[in-house]
Amino acid sequence: MTQTTPDHRPDRPKTILAVESSCDETAVAIVRGGRQLIAGTVFSQIKTHEAFGGVIPEVAAREHIQAMNACLADALAQASPAMTLNDVDAFAATLGPGLIGSLLVGANAAKTLSLLTGKPFLGVNHLYGHVASNYLNTDLEPPFLCLLVSGGHTQLIHVQDYATMLILGETLDDAVGECYDKVARIMDLPYPGGPNMDRLATGRMEGYPAGDPKRFQLPRAQTNRPFDFSFSGLKTASMRQYEAARNALPAGDEPAMAQLKADFAASFQHTVVTTLFEKTRACADAHELNTIAIAGGVSANSGLRKHFENFVAANAEYRLFVPPMAFCTDNAAMIGASAYFNPITTDWATEVFSRSA
Ligand code: KG4
Ligand code: ZN
Repeated sequence: MTQTTPDHRPDRPKTILAVESSCDETAVAIVRGGRQLIAGTVFSQIKTHEAFGGVIPEVAAREHIQAMNACLADALAQASPAMTLNDVDAFAATLGPGLIGSLLVGANAAKTLSLLTGKPFLGVNHLYGHVASNYLNTDLEPPFLCLLVSGGHTQLIHVQDYATMLILGETLDDAVGECYDKVARIMDLPYPGGPNMDRLATGRMEGYPAGDPKRFQLPRAQTNRPFDFSFSGLKTASMRQYEAARNALPAGDEPAMAQLKADFAASFQHTVVTTLFEKTRACADAHELNTIAIAGGVSANSGLRKHFENFVAANAEYRLFVPPMAFCTDNAAMIGASAYFNPITTDWATEVFSRSA
């Protein structure tokens, strides 16, 4: 990845303080010129939601309220030299999609700072934010194809220019992150499911052996439109096959149970990764796009990253952008980048939204 200096667009506020609070991470970052991270802090609520096995929206909103001011102060103090609100040119926040109660906390925090300082407020679409995570510390410019894989979305996006994104394919049912989380749950893996499934699939979970990705044959959905995805069939088939295999084990055979779990996770991950990769490659070729970026929480998946990286290593005509791990899952740096390159023009009446078209 190439280190770049910030972009200089005289019509844009150069230094943006951005807030992200759409789900279970309270995050604040200061980004210069859309590409340079000055400071960033993420407070994760995982510990709180772990006990429930998933995110409880009311609890998430309360945690955001508790963490917000500390995160804001932390980001300003982290900058070197430390910054004050005077050094910020605009304030940004995620407006949606996400959990309404959580979004309100971040949006209102940034709007308040904007009102206090008389500096602009910029709204950001969370999905545009994930795409923009690839602009941080790189020289990536549109056009490119972005595979966006998160807890709520699975999309192939033709990023034609910074503000024009054409959806070439998307999931018809479950998002891939959701599928990971649900299958992890039936396998009794701890929350958050996706990262734990990835660890188990790649022999990085303590007490478990390496898994065999060929032991289980899981289905790949056919879709009418070639670049759409469907994961609900895989989810159902996974539940059925896993339960059948588990019920066939002799009671109390712990080593066999550990091997079953590792093999199942490896097989599941192999199916998901190859499906995502093959569709992305076919889509890139069909649209003559040889720059590919991946984004969203599932882009942290070790199998997915490795598969794309190996492909590009062997096919020099493609360029690949994979965000560093800290920019894959929800963070505010990507919101700062997106606020610079493609802000939602807002007025004070602009509200948060839970879903996007
Ligand atoms: O982008 P994100 O942090 O939040 C949304 O905008 O949805 O994505 C969260 C999703 C969750 O479903 C989580 O399980 C999944 O990303 N995820 C992973 C990994 N890390 C996060 N899935 C598979 N492998 C991972 N390493
Ligand atoms: Zn996200």
